[in-house]
Amino acid sequence: MATEVRIAPTADVDPAAEIGDGTTVWHLAQVREKAVLGRGCILGRGAYVGPGVIVGDNVKLQNYALVYEPAVLEDGVFIGPAAVLTNDMYPRSTDVEGALKRDGDWSAEGVTVREGASVGARAVIVAGRTIGRHALVAAGAVVSRDVPDFALVAGVPARRIGWVGRAGVPLADLGDGRWRCPSTGELYTEQDGTLTGPAPAKAGELGTGSTESPGTAGPGGSAEGSD
Ligand SMILES: CC(C)(COP(=O)(O)OP(=O)(O)OC[C@H]1O[C@@H](n2cnc3c(N)ncnc32)[C@H](O)[C@@H]1OP(=O)(O)O)[C@@H](O)C(=O)NCCC(=O)NCCS
Repeated sequence: MATEVRIAPTADVDPAAEIGDGTTVWHLAQVREKAVLGRGCILGRGAYVGPGVIVGDNVKLQNYALVYEPAVLEDGVFIGPAAVLTNDMYPRSTDVEGALKRDGDWSAEGVTVREGASVGARAVIVAGRTIGRHALVAAGAVVSRDVPDFALVAGVPARRIGWVGRAGVPLADLGDGRWRCPSTGELYTEQDGTLTGPAPAKAGELGTGSTESPGTAGPGGSAEGSD
């Protein structure tokens, strides 16, 4: 992995932010004070990372993704273009006296996005919610409840419409609570609304995916950072 940190001349990276090796911050992106970005991340044009936000390794923030503090994004997370991770459940600009509210006048509640999960374009995540490991939030969804690991959620409000595996592809239902990734062949087990796995596919399991290489965690998607 490249170790050079690349920051576009028009990006605004606070001197008190930490940027990991091999991370690229594209034009007009802003990284606020005390934010911590891991290694190998890509911040697309116009992306925003609030003060003290924690970002793991190999995270992609697509163009104009807005991540408000105190969000935590674990390794391999993908935040789609113009997605918003909010931090205030009952926002007001002013108090009842009409005075402008300042930082100490309200409590920010951050969103947590677990390892390898993806948030689709223009999705909104309500303050304080957690997106589970390797989950996928559809484009345009509004997430108002926590999202379980591996869940595929869509709509307003977001509801689970399926499961995805580590590769981000919808899983095929084998029946009896067993699910298979058509891309990697990995097997998952559903019980009481929770998906666990993956286990390597056994010889003779249904479908086409390779059983030799379970594939790497995390979603794909182009960087879309350069302009
Ligand atoms: C949710 C998603 C993964 C579904 O993909 P898919 O499994 O191929 O699903 P299909 O296109 O077959 O659609 C299945 C159903 O879900 C609906 N659906 C698909 N995407 C949806 C979305 N974003 N929101 C709400 N419903 C959606 C379809 O209308 C269809 O409904 P129907 O069965 O009633 O006709 C995909 O549409 C999506 O939103 N991906 C994220 C894209 C994105 O934001 N990328 C960011 C980088 S640019």
